[in-house]
Amino acid sequence: MSARLLYVCALVAACVPFSSSARAAEYVEMSGQELYMRFCASCHGVEGRGDGPVAPALAVEVPDLTLIARRRGSFPRDLVARIIDGRHIISAHGTRTMPVWGLAFSRAELDEQDTRIITRKLTDYLAQLQRPVQRSDGQ
Ligand code: HEC
Repeated sequence: MSARLLYVCALVAACVPFSSSARAAEYVEMSGQELYMRFCASCHGVEGRGDGPVAPALAVEVPDLTLIARRRGSFPRDLVARIIDGRHIISAHGTRTMPVWGLAFSRAELDEQDTRIITRKLTDYLAQLQRPVQRSDGQ
């Protein structure tokens, strides 16, 4: 590695702790909807219907998140939380240690408590998005 490159790396590393802790605080303060817009809407769509701008570029279909309860009979809070925090692996979300939004979260140096807060806000937000389990036409 050249001296110049080493210098740049050191400079970047020196700047990270300050800016990242500011971001952790920022994420924890965000509402579930704001977190969703920032980390999920690109694929799942602004309204959760699976029609985000990145969706067509993916090999797998992006699910409509407003239909989770209808598809499963009720809203599986625990499973959804595990999908969000990466304990339940979904390949399109990346790996457990590095889900697609996890990079942003890990740069922000979220601790376990921050992760729990953010996961709960996102889970609550998705619970709110659910369309009724029973269809009005009885089907
Ligand atoms: C890179 C695109 C992408 C991003 C960003 C993304 N998802 Fe997903 N998500 C997917 C895809 C694709 C699937 C379906 C994968 C599968 O079934 O294997 C999925 C599945 C899910 C499921 C399971 C739905 C079901 O019916 O079982 C949940 C819940 C979910 N995502 C929530 C989120 C949340 C919350 C975020 C933001 C923190 C998010 N996703 C960010 C692409 C994405």
